[in-house]
Amino acid sequence: MMRLSVLAVLAIAAATVPALLAVSDTVSTDHGGPSGALKALYARPLATPFPSDNPYSAAKAQLGERLFFDPRLSGDDNIACASCHNPSLSWGDGLPRGIGHAMNVLPRRTPTVLNAAWVAPLMWDGRNATLEEQAVGPMAAPGEMNQDLDRLAAKLTAIASYRDAFAGAFPGEGVTLGTIAKALATYERTIVSGTAPFDRWIAGDEAAIPPSAKRGFALFNTKANCATCHAGWNFTDNGFHDIGLPDADRGRAEILDLPSMEHGFKTPTLRDVARRDPYMHDGSLPTLAAVIEHYRIGGTQRPSLAEEIKPLALTEPETRDLIDFLATLTADGQAAPTPAVGRRTAR
Ligand code: HEC
Ligand code: HEC
Repeated sequence: MMRLSVLAVLAIAAATVPALLAVSDTVSTDHGGPSGALKALYARPLATPFPSDNPYSAAKAQLGERLFFDPRLSGDDNIACASCHNPSLSWGDGLPRGIGHAMNVLPRRTPTVLNAAWVAPLMWDGRNATLEEQAVGPMAAPGEMNQDLDRLAAKLTAIASYRDAFAGAFPGEGVTLGTIAKALATYERTIVSGTAPFDRWIAGDEAAIPPSAKRGFALFNTKANCATCHAGWNFTDNGFHDIGLPDADRGRAEILDLPSMEHGFKTPTLRDVARRDPYMHDGSLPTLAAVIEHYRIGGTQRPSLAEEIKPLALTEPETRDLIDFLATLTADGQAAPTPAVGRRTAR
């Protein structure tokens, strides 16, 4: 499984990078918007992928939503998935590091689950191949939800409304760790970023974003090098890179013990990114301005540092243009409100 994900990442990198290089000369901001080739690279997918061993059903997604917001998935009935992946905070927690059971401060920042259907392998270090596999981890982790997994199925089976919901979503299977994970994963795949001004611009509406953001998009694809890693409609290559943050976390190298993977972290999506400060796996950069400044300076020099990360000759107006561009990735309307599902799970 580990080898498969590396191959997948290499394949994605090989497929994406030449395509981006090929179009980077044709970015046009003065008239007509971006070229057709560039538009195609950023077009949103028409459908959400669901795996054949856990296909979508509305019953599964609804059950998964209830589970995601239910603190009874934790040992002390006080922490839900949504406690850390809060829809009002763009499916993160707004903290530098996640806080779990008994106020335990986790070693890394909580990532968003927005667009989770497209971002495998999961976690900052890519240790989980699928959402189904991932979902069990936080429930069992003593420092997160601290739930005794052997008792979880019985705990939920004792709740009549869950018995019915599992029977409907998984006929003949009932409440098991496997069906709990499948329901959670199905719901997570429905958490998709909404249409943003950037999408309307890509679709041809020239007035959808300001001129500064168009200049920022051009920089993003050329001089600032961002698109080599933040590639495509979801702004990630699903790969792992050392961008030179100075902390000691070995990241991907803890899973794949290779010198090139030292301090390698998963490229995060930039969809709705302005709603998700503070930034990075360690929450060390408080604002988007601080993020751009990090890239402008070029990061900590060490053998694993990605070759794209080097001092950038960005002027002050150019850094503002990049931030204006990132703001166009924020979906129209409010951040998602917290649905009232917790109250429906009375015994
Ligand atoms: C105490 C806070 C906390 C709770 C509770 C929590 N998570 Fe997370 N979640 C995190 C952190 C921190 C990470 C990143 C850990 C890492 O990469 O080492 C993460 C990572 C993830 C990811 C990977 C996202 C990506 O892009 O790679 C998914 C999916 C996820 N969690 C789903 C869930 C589900 C489902 C639950 C409930 C069963 C849950 N989480 C409960 C903090 C939390
Ligand atoms: C070599 C690949 C690479 C390049 C080039 C790159 N990034 Fe990143 N970016 C990453 C990775 C990997 C992370 C997560 C790093 C971490 O947390 O250790 C990241 C994190 C970010 C974040 C924080 C997102 C979050 O949720 O924490 C933003 C914003 C961002 N990059 C924007 C940019 C911009 C703008 C550029 C161009 C100036 C750029 N990136 C260039 C790989 C890259």
